[in-house]
Amino acid sequence: MDEPEPWWTGAVVYQVYPRSFADGNGDGIGDLAGLRRRLDHIADLGVDVVWLSPVYRSPQADNGYDISDYEDIDPLFGTLDEFDALLVEVHRHGMKLVMDLVVNHSSDQHPWFQAAKLSRTCPKHDWYIWRDPVDGHEPNEWRAAFGGPAWSWDPGTGQYYLHMFTPQQPDLNWDNADMRDAVYTMMNHWLDRGVDGFRMDVINHIAKDPAALADGSAAYVMQPRIHDHLQEMHERVFAGRDALLTVGEMPGVTVEDAVLFTDPERHELDMVFQFEHVGLDHGPTSKFDNEPFDLVALKASLARWQTGLADTGWNSLYLANHDQPRPVSRFGAAAVAAAHGFRADPFDLRYESATLLATVLHLHRGTPYLYQGDEIGMVNAGFTAIDEYRDVESLNWFRGAVGRGMPVDDALQALAVRSRDNARTPMPWDDATPAGGFSDVEPWIGMGQGWPRVTVASDRAAGDRSVYEHHRRLIALRHDSRTVRVGDFTLLEADHAALWAFTRSLEDAAEPGLVVVANLSSSRMTLPDAVAERLGRCVLGNLGVPAPDDARSLQPWEARVHEDLG
Ligand code: GLC
Ligand code: CA
Repeated sequence: MDEPEPWWTGAVVYQVYPRSFADGNGDGIGDLAGLRRRLDHIADLGVDVVWLSPVYRSPQADNGYDISDYEDIDPLFGTLDEFDALLVEVHRHGMKLVMDLVVNHSSDQHPWFQAAKLSRTCPKHDWYIWRDPVDGHEPNEWRAAFGGPAWSWDPGTGQYYLHMFTPQQPDLNWDNADMRDAVYTMMNHWLDRGVDGFRMDVINHIAKDPAALADGSAAYVMQPRIHDHLQEMHERVFAGRDALLTVGEMPGVTVEDAVLFTDPERHELDMVFQFEHVGLDHGPTSKFDNEPFDLVALKASLARWQTGLADTGWNSLYLANHDQPRPVSRFGAAAVAAAHGFRADPFDLRYESATLLATVLHLHRGTPYLYQGDEIGMVNAGFTAIDEYRDVESLNWFRGAVGRGMPVDDALQALAVRSRDNARTPMPWDDATPAGGFSDVEPWIGMGQGWPRVTVASDRAAGDRSVYEHHRRLIALRHDSRTVRVGDFTLLEADHAALWAFTRSLEDAAEPGLVVVANLSSSRMTLPDAVAERLGRCVLGNLGVPAPDDARSLQPWEARVHEDLG
């Protein structure tokens, strides 16, 4: 290697969903003051970066992913002064702070959109995407991600505007150079203020093809101009600044595209969030149409991305975020039981499942993203009534599905498995107060079925059965081991239905290679000889280090990292 690897190849990112993290002012909604008071919890894990989901001024139609002022903090979360205080504290803890950047769309309450609606000829009109009606209808058949047409009628201008998400989230027109200037200026302000980078919301949606717009084909993502936009953004915002982190959220991105986006020579992004592995259990009609968990497919998918980005570019690694169900419930013992048709106890082998999944993820090559609550093994919300849900996507889908004749119980069952609210229940800090230390009052969303059984306090007191402690060990291992950071990845036993095994190795062999073995089943597993023979010293395991005679088998949901004897 000629050049040292970029700093983020050794980094671990922790995502905070602020409204569910900690309430500092007693209104039941998490905020910046609450987060600042709880920073030790994040810093003690050893993570390098905090990614903060949106805290900008917003009507909260999509929990802050609808921004009405990009340069101010929403009063719900605090003030710019409180933000600055938080930033100082994050830096004092030796971590970086990455902001969410939501510039595929703004809020319909943003002054830009309010100005754009004034007339067809006012300068800001072209900052959004408008079309005349075609035969009195929407210009094409595009559907919005959260239900309904992607076009809404604006009586003032007599035109439709495009919104890929809710009608309160009009899409910005990236063909307009003045709009792009305004976005770059805003981004520079945040970086000048001291933030360390951006997680870019659905950034591959920003380049839309006017011809595709006209003919109705769904070619709204990944138009070639996306690369021009990102290169321009790089030049206007990131060039010459040190030690930033940029990650683009890209539903539908392919490995081939990801190489282009993250090739350092192209000056676009450091890494992207791809969606392939979190789409494997989606059915043919929608994400609410659940397919059982299939380990062979999951292993193959992640391995494909490891290989695809081995020479050029960089992976981000995640199993969950604020849009996904909890990993323990989705890929853990409960999910495997459900896939085999057994009644699943949501807490069955919870410690083992959470730590196994973390081990496997953190031992891949890439930058791991840890979502709040997963470091203590939180489970899905377990909501059973529609009035427990808050998420606009869940509520819209439920209304539509029941309207089309789906039995209410079936629709609730689908939400219980898939709703984004599964990841949005409050952080359960303790079991001493009614809102689990999250707030003094009733939280904006229920605590979920995990509370009071699963809390930060109880997990941290659990000694060698603490999910948090296990994450701490995994993060320290990445910091210590160049093999973990940049070693080559090779999947072993790809077709095995319950074993997840792979190796990591450095060409120059300056450090021993590693072999990772994990048993995703509720029975004891004897390892295939070809794998067992490789196992050297055990570096780390979620059930401790086995006696040498026991190393050839794995307990239910046991995961271990060994030195590789090759
Ligand atoms: C991204 C966000 C999601 C949001 C959507 C629209 O996918 O992660 O929470 O609803 O974009 O901004
Ligand atoms: Ca609050």
